[in-house]
Amino acid sequence: MKHDRAIIMGFRQPTSLPLENTVPITWTSDLDTGIAVIDQQHMRIVDYINQMEHAQQKQDRGLVGRVLDELVDYTLSHFAFEESLQEEAGYPYLKPHRKVHELFVRRVNEYRERFSRGEEIAEEIHTLLSAWLINHIKRDDADYVGAVRPRMVALVSDQRKEGWLARSLGRFFR
Ligand SMILES: [Fe+2]
Ligand SMILES: [Fe+2]
Repeated sequence: MKHDRAIIMGFRQPTSLPLENTVPITWTSDLDTGIAVIDQQHMRIVDYINQMEHAQQKQDRGLVGRVLDELVDYTLSHFAFEESLQEEAGYPYLKPHRKVHELFVRRVNEYRERFSRGEEIAEEIHTLLSAWLINHIKRDDADYVGAVRPRMVALVSDQRKEGWLARSLGRFFR
């Protein structure tokens, strides 16, 4: 099961990363999946990660908390959207992909709990977000898009109000 292994390996916790890793992430073409609506969502997630970094540098704990909440909220919507798209397009590895999303959410929620207890987690969570999410976009997300691209292109280019894209955007994003 090459795919399963790639997904799990792609999400393995990074070993300790140097501090200079906490620099703003710039969008590079290797992050493109080739599906515009997914890329836009990923860009927004990257933007939130960079906002977190900014808040952390300003040592603004209130702002870190707010950005963290928004980031989690948006990422959950993105995951749900992505899983729905995979399901609709018949991606055979939806289950392991969903599992990776769940593990990630659990991990981020642990950080949120620590944050609400007053712990300093901004740097750690920045490492987690930038390394894991970027890795996930490059490997796991690229894998599902590659596997079912024609079906996805058809789904997301259907501009009708009752089409899959309009329904799902309305369902998962406020
Ligand atoms: Fe994604
Ligand atoms: Fe994903």
